[in-house]
Amino acid sequence: MRVLIKEDEGMVAAVAAGIVADRINSHTGDGPVVLGLPTGSTPLRTYARLVEMYKAGEVSFRNVVTFNMDEYVGLDRQHPQSYHRFMWDNFFSHVDIPQENVNILDGMAADPEGECRRYEQKIAQYGGIDLFMGGIGTDGHIAFNEPFSSLSSRTRIKTLTQETIESNSRFFDHETAKVPRQALTVGVATILSAREVLILATGSAKALAVKMGVEGAYNHKWTISALQTHPHGILVIDEAAAGELTVNTYRYFKDIEQ
Ligand code: GLP
Repeated sequence: MRVLIKEDEGMVAAVAAGIVADRINSHTGDGPVVLGLPTGSTPLRTYARLVEMYKAGEVSFRNVVTFNMDEYVGLDRQHPQSYHRFMWDNFFSHVDIPQENVNILDGMAADPEGECRRYEQKIAQYGGIDLFMGGIGTDGHIAFNEPFSSLSSRTRIKTLTQETIESNSRFFDHETAKVPRQALTVGVATILSAREVLILATGSAKALAVKMGVEGAYNHKWTISALQTHPHGILVIDEAAAGELTVNTYRYFKDIEQ
């Protein structure tokens, strides 16, 4: 695993956007570039930077297909807090990605299990995901793979933990009762099947999750720790999110990435 420790959120976004744009621009195959994408406050600046790069003619999304990580169960795509709305408002509407290239799980699907199966099949039809970008929850979850999710899980329905409901209530007028209890989410194995995985974390609230993911044992309580098994895992964090790493670990990654 590579760990890039950057000064602040702005630098994390610049590095992450640079990696995404580089993988798109250096793609040589016949088919599209397939990206896995997250929501959350962490990637917002990365999306803003990618929009700037698109407007400057530095990257195009015409030949990009995307699969989002997750979606709340019971929110229709026009709901202000649905991940559909998040993605269109913050990213897709501002770049040249063809609408039919965007894939987001349908939280209103009449047959949620069928929806999850269909999603995995569609990813497979594209030959898998080239680069999966993600964030981390304070409890170390990736996508909505809450603590004790199977590390070999695929796309499915998950019930959210109280910690995640409380943390995400900031987007629902700080009312936990308004936060959906379940989500459709790609599994840990879906993320790890990507050819490259890029995880972003900023702020001190993520410092413990980062520590457990980097220095902790590979285990299902901190699903971020599964990144340790990926041949091309990159964690991009700011100084605050690096705050719980031991001095040795911190120095190792600072030195080696110089
Ligand atoms: C949600 C999403 C995750 C995301 C996490 C952290 O739970 N399902 O994919 O990583 O929030 O979000 P934030 O970046 O807002 O801290």
